[in-house]
Amino acid sequence: MHKTSRIALFASGNGSNAHQIIRHFSTISDIEVALVISNKAGAPVLKRAADHGITTYVHSAEEIQNGQLLKVVRKHAIDFIALAGYLKQIGTAVIAAYPQKIVNIHPALLPKFGGKGMYGIHVHRAVIAARETLSGMTIHYVTENYDEGAIIEQQTCPVTAGDTAETIQQKVLQLEHAHYPKCIERLVRFHIGGAESNTGQ
Ligand code: GRF
Repeated sequence: MHKTSRIALFASGNGSNAHQIIRHFSTISDIEVALVISNKAGAPVLKRAADHGITTYVHSAEEIQNGQLLKVVRKHAIDFIALAGYLKQIGTAVIAAYPQKIVNIHPALLPKFGGKGMYGIHVHRAVIAARETLSGMTIHYVTENYDEGAIIEQQTCPVTAGDTAETIQQKVLQLEHAHYPKCIERLVRFHIGGAESNTGQ
C-alpha cells in the first residue's frame, strides 16, 4: 500500500493560496493537506479549510516558544510544511525538526523586497516606488535565518506604466496560485516520496 504524504499549511489571513493548494491535492491520492494552522482565530483561511473537511488548529505565541507547536505538527504526522501568508515566525523547534521540508512564498522577486515590513501591499508599493519593470513571486526554503533560505522557484510578471500596487498584487497572486501547488507537489515527491517512489513498500 502507498503511504500518503501529509502536508500542513500555515496561514494567517485570507488563504487564497491555501485554498488553491487544498484544491490541487484534493485530486491527488498519495499526498494530502492534513492540517491548516493559523496564529489568528477568525482568519478566513480557517473557514476555507473547514469547508474542505481539513483539521484546523489556532496557536498562541507561547506555543511557538514552548515547543507545543512542534508537538501539534508531530501529532498529525506531518511530513512537509508550506507557509502561505503566515505572518509569524514558525520558530526554531519546528524548523530544526523539518530540515528542507518547510517552504514559504513571497510576493516579490527575492532577494529584493524581502525582510522586515515587506508583506502584503507594502511589498507592491515598494516595487512601484523603485520603478521596477518586473515583479513576481519567489518560493524558498525556510531556515533558521529566515531570509537566507535557498530560492526554489521564481515566476515573473511585467510592471507597466498603468500598474498600481493593487494591480501588481493581483498579477502576482495569479502567479502564486498557478505555481505554488505544483511546486509543493514536486518538492514533496522529491523529499518525501510519492506513489512512484513508494511503490512496493
Ligand atoms: C501572498 O501574496 C503570499 O505571497 C504572501 O502572503 C500572501 C497571502 O495571500 N506570503 P493569501 O492569504 O494566500 O490570499
